[in-house]
Amino acid sequence: MSIGILFESSETDEKGIKMTAEEMGIDLTYIPFRKVAIRLDKNGYSLRTKGKDYTNILKDITVVLNRAQSKNRRLFAANILEAFGKHVINPQCVEYACFSKLRTLLHFWKAGIRIPDTVYVPVDPNEKTLDGREVHNEEDIADLMQQELDNNIVIKPDAGTHGKSVKLAKEREELLSIIREVEPSIINPVGVLAQNLVQKWFYDLRIIVTKEYGKQPYCYPTALARAGFKDFRTNTFLGNMVIGVNLPQHIRDVSAKCGAAIGGDSEAYVLAFDAMVDVGDNKIVDDEYLKAEFDKLEPSFDAVKNVKRDKTKRTNFPEWNKKLEAAFEDYKNQDAYLNIKNVIEENMEKNKQKIMFHETNACPEFWEQTRLAAGIDLAEALLKGAQSIIDSE
Ligand SMILES: Nc1ncnc2c1ncn2[C@@H]1O[C@H](COP(=O)(O)OP(=O)(O)OP(=O)(O)O)[C@@H](O)[C@H]1O
Ligand SMILES: [Mg+2]
Repeated sequence: MSIGILFESSETDEKGIKMTAEEMGIDLTYIPFRKVAIRLDKNGYSLRTKGKDYTNILKDITVVLNRAQSKNRRLFAANILEAFGKHVINPQCVEYACFSKLRTLLHFWKAGIRIPDTVYVPVDPNEKTLDGREVHNEEDIADLMQQELDNNIVIKPDAGTHGKSVKLAKEREELLSIIREVEPSIINPVGVLAQNLVQKWFYDLRIIVTKEYGKQPYCYPTALARAGFKDFRTNTFLGNMVIGVNLPQHIRDVSAKCGAAIGGDSEAYVLAFDAMVDVGDNKIVDDEYLKAEFDKLEPSFDAVKNVKRDKTKRTNFPEWNKKLEAAFEDYKNQDAYLNIKNVIEENMEKNKQKIMFHETNACPEFWEQTRLAAGIDLAEALLKGAQSIIDSE
């Protein structure tokens, strides 16, 4: 009985998981999932690359950590592995829920968890008929959105990531031009998804919930706040900064409920929830003060980003990792960092009842940010989850 790790290419997170497994004394077996042939026939299954047969290796594995990067490939990996009798973290039912923002929101909503006001319109903006005509539904979609939502409307692809194509419309012409650009695609298979703009101030949250076999869902006491004034989307991908914050107990409790809502009766999982606090005007300092603090913090965050780009990441991971940790430590020791952290924590405490959840990530990136800012080692959580299943057998 052993633990496997499946991935497409070995990035920092996968290297981090391997390093952590070594430190924990856990044998971790690699399973490739790109240029492989997965064969099903009357004798069973096989998994082979051009040069190597992984079939028996896979047979010996009890639990697989699924680190395939694209949502589609990850879902297929989970489907295949469960059919082969493997336990997977995360299981396919979790991947299925997390794949789609609408499905995730439906789970939250059913469990009574606050979400942004959401509208889904199933029709596509531009339809092509069999005889080659085009049917335009943009005006009707905009009418429906304006009928149901406020003036500021956020349109987003159902299965998008990194804030890509998440757009804000402040008036009808803007709304129409955004809707005109929505096309059925792999990240937005059908229809249009929209929400009221949540008045969330300058930060949102990435909250981690894990579950081990036989235990209750566990929400970590800290979270990653993504913060800045660059855009209404606070994704770090768009240049915002990350701050580790302590969560109010109420937010931890609701987050654990989110875990149960998405995880169902799965044995073990590791999830990252995206949440916003609907602060409204309940702000405790003015934006100018905060912007000045962010400016002060910029050089040390740039230093972190420089290390991230450093090529030694690939050639000498442990050494590079030390450099990253040192740069992050320096960034976290800045007065501006602590000042921003205090503002977020105080503001969360005051507005904790207004926490809203809007997305779940089944394969969150963690080594470079969540681990260093919030002190949460997801590699350890993944391995412990897998070990808990093995121990139960
Ligand atoms: N309804 C909303 N009101 C206000 N801000 C929003 C709303 N929806 C999304 N945002 C902002 O836009 C960002 C990106 O949105 P969302 O998380 O839905 O997209 P994403 O592409 O999945 O991003 P990621 O994969 O990085 O989490 C959020 O982190 C949040 O800051
Ligand atoms: Mg998100």
